[in-house]
Amino acid sequence: MFRAASLLRGARALPRARNAIATPGPTVRQVSTTRPPRKDHDETKPGRFARTDPSITVECPAGGDVPSSKPVQRHRRTLKSFSLEGKVAVVTGGARGLGYVMTQALVESGADAAIVDLDGEEAVKSAKSLLEHFKGENPDAERLPTITAHTSDVSSPTSVRSTISEILAQHNSHIDVLVTSAGFTENFKAEDYPHDRMQKLWGVNVDGTYFCAVEAAKHMIERKRPGSMVFIGSMSGSIVNVPQPQAPYNAAKAAVRHLASSLAVEWAPHGIRVNCISPGYMLTTLTRKILDDNPELKAKWTSLIPQGRMGNPEDLMGAVVFLASGASSYVTGADLRIDGGYTVT
Ligand SMILES: NC(=O)c1ccc[n+]([C@@H]2O[C@H](COP(=O)([O-])OP(=O)(O)OC[C@H]3O[C@@H](n4cnc5c(N)ncnc54)[C@H](O)[C@@H]3O)[C@@H](O)[C@H]2O)c1
Repeated sequence: MFRAASLLRGARALPRARNAIATPGPTVRQVSTTRPPRKDHDETKPGRFARTDPSITVECPAGGDVPSSKPVQRHRRTLKSFSLEGKVAVVTGGARGLGYVMTQALVESGADAAIVDLDGEEAVKSAKSLLEHFKGENPDAERLPTITAHTSDVSSPTSVRSTISEILAQHNSHIDVLVTSAGFTENFKAEDYPHDRMQKLWGVNVDGTYFCAVEAAKHMIERKRPGSMVFIGSMSGSIVNVPQPQAPYNAAKAAVRHLASSLAVEWAPHGIRVNCISPGYMLTTLTRKILDDNPELKAKWTSLIPQGRMGNPEDLMGAVVFLASGASSYVTGADLRIDGGYTVT
């Protein structure tokens, strides 16, 4: 009800706004501000503003008044501090879903990338597809990004250690950014949660984040150069999702968020920033499939999101680049919720 009312208010304001813009311009010959409503102007009709208005006439300006043409802007302009040029970004869980799209964002912003994933084959495919996409988007690029793929189980400290060494060997002994997107969720009633599944859940989401962060930090501290880490938590770390029962996942994501704050304090003297992104319900290929099979769940979830839609993986692109880059140089220990407003209601 409220939404419909405010849309209607917006619609009524439009004819006034149009006159306000037209009146001061020297080339606009005649626009009446007191014109009575047109007969065909029915506010309840769809497309009511998509009509030509014969009462509006605009003179063609004389040659001297026309500004000179400018070259087409080849590069999209943005703040220099958002650039990741010359940086190496490691993304765990980067073969699929949110990690894949965030890797793309980091590469498009100038970084080289190392995709770390349990599914090594998929990681190789993703590295290739991201490079091909980059070439298509930047046919005149002077330099192509290096995107490598690494098979690793982030829940194993030995696997993580050898993967970080492998990445350093392939990226000129260089890691500047770590994004930890490897993670998963599953639903069981608390009384029925199998203990081995719970250990696996904590192993990947919490231990995995910790092991990767510590190995990357050791390297950054040794190199005495600043670094930025972005942990992927979830809004489930702050709220309790309904209707699906997932207590251990919620608790694990709360741990990820607080791990980010705790490590941010511990590593601040070394110039390492650690922040967390907490996404809401995001439409990845995986969640899309689950929801296609359970349409009532999608309706329930969406009804709880003030923006009225689930997030797209692309909704994380700007946030991860912001937190990874110098644009956020005074931000550490923060949790950035990207959830369409879910957690504020
Ligand atoms: N999709 C959502 O709606 C959503 C919402 C909030 C938070 N998240 C979080 O975002 C992160 C990414 O989720 P997603 O939806 O992209 O999932 P996804 O399943 O699409 O991708 C996760 C990737 O992590 C990899 N992975 C899993 N276990 C691993 C391990 N032990 N070692 C290395 N890699 C491993 C998988 O192979 C996969 O490629 C997760 O931490 C998830 O909890 C997702």
